[in-house]
Parts: sequence; C-alpha cells; structure tokens
Amino acid sequence: MNNFQYNRGFIVLSSNILSIPKIIIALDFREKKNAMKLVNLLDPSIFYLKIGKEMFTLLGCSFIKELQKIGFHIFLDLKFHDIPNTVFNATKAAADLGIWMLSIHASGGKDMLIAAKRALKSFKTGPLLIAVTALTSLKEENLKDIGIHITLTEYILILSQLSYDCGLDGIVCPGNEAKNIKSLFGNQYKIITPGIRVSQDLFYDQNNVITAQEAKKYKIDYIVIGRSVTMSKNPIKKLDFILQSIK
Ligand code: C5P
Repeated sequence: MNNFQYNRGFIVLSSNILSIPKIIIALDFREKKNAMKLVNLLDPSIFYLKIGKEMFTLLGCSFIKELQKIGFHIFLDLKFHDIPNTVFNATKAAADLGIWMLSIHASGGKDMLIAAKRALKSFKTGPLLIAVTALTSLKEENLKDIGIHITLTEYILILSQLSYDCGLDGIVCPGNEAKNIKSLFGNQYKIITPGIRVSQDLFYDQNNVITAQEAKKYKIDYIVIGRSVTMSKNPIKKLDFILQSIK
C-alpha cells in the first residue's frame, strides 16, 4: 500500500515519514491559473514553493502573499546580483514580505554578500540567505568563456567558502558537487540543489542533474523540483514516486 494518502487532492503523509531532503517546488508557469492548479494539489506542510523571476515578474508580491495565506513557505529565488547598497535594500524589501528563503549570487562578491547579511540584522526571523554558487545549467567550458580557468568544482568550493565566511546560511549548488560541501562546512550550512530528475525525464537546459535518491545520499537539505513535476501530465503521481524514493 502507498505510504501517501490522497485527501481532497492533497498529498498527505499518512505515517511518520518525513522526506529528507525536503522538497521545494519551482513554481515556474506562464499563467497563474496553471500554477494554481498545481498549488491546489499540494500540502503546505510537506512542500515549499519557489517563486523565481518568471512568476515574480508576472504577478509580483501579491502572489507571494496569496500563497502565504494558504500556508506555504516561500523561497524567493530572485538571485540578487548588484552593488552592495542595492542588494542591501532589496534584501530588506524581500525580508519584509515574510519569505522563508532568499537567494543571491555568490559571484556578486564579498561586499555584496556582507551587505545582504547585514540587511537581515533587524529581522528577528528573517529568511534563510542562500548564495548561488554555479547554476546547474553551467558547463565547465562556460567558465572559460568568461575568463575563469579553474574547474567547476574549484569554482564552487571558492564561492562556498566565501559565502560561509560572510555568514550566509547555505548555498545553491549542483548535486554532484554537494558531497564535498557537507563534509567541509558541516550540517548547519544548508545545501539546496535544483536539476532534479527521475530517470525518464528530459534534461531541458540543465547540465548537472541528479535523482532525489542521489540527493539523499549526498545529504542535500533541500531539492528544487521544477519541470519534472510542472511539465508532467500527472504531477501528483510524479511527486508520489519521488517521495517514495527518498522515504
Ligand atoms: O527542475 P528544473 O530544471 O525545471 O528547475 C529549474 C528551476 O531551478 C528554475 O526555477 C531555476 O531558476 C532554478 N535554479 C537552477 N539552478 C540554480 C538555481 C536555481 O536551475 N543554480
């Protein structure tokens, strides 16, 4: 029998199984009605929602508020990358929304990372501040294109160390690189990994993909699942399959 029961369309945990890694759904849709079709099937006590550039540009802060009202924790994935003063103010504005997690680009540099961290000082329970090291779509040759002649692994380690030193709560990094990070920086430093696929899925534009099971093995804290579920004809069946694989 399934360990997950379907209750008024929600996926509900029927036992004490807690998924580790936890699942963040990348809510990337062109239209609100399609996003809401999926949202209405999800139990906010199990799934987190990631709002990125696509839906934020389309629908703005009111959409975040609407999802929070339902009970969802929101990861605002706007990947800030700007001068320190701008990132400081944008981070404050994001935290005012009561979001759970916020992303900035580690490659924005030390002063920018520190400014973002400083912006959260006045918040009692500010969002987790997470630095993107390398996009999961990035290939090593893309680093060379921008004049960076080190391996992707070295690049990610340097940016992970920098973000750690600046007091960030964790990083976004490709799954295959995550193993090193946990052993170097410890459990408190969170790892968030997009590019999650099940075996028959298309990669689309991603280059570094792993399965949810591999993410569990690498001790990744949160996996971001996008098109594997959002493009699926039966998203609930897909999520059920993924949950079963990491229980
Ligand atoms: O599963 P899928 O490939 O659709 O996931 C893509 C999502 O993950 C997008 O929302 C994208 O912005 C996000 N993302 C990423 N790589 C990163 C950080 C975020 O693909 N390093």
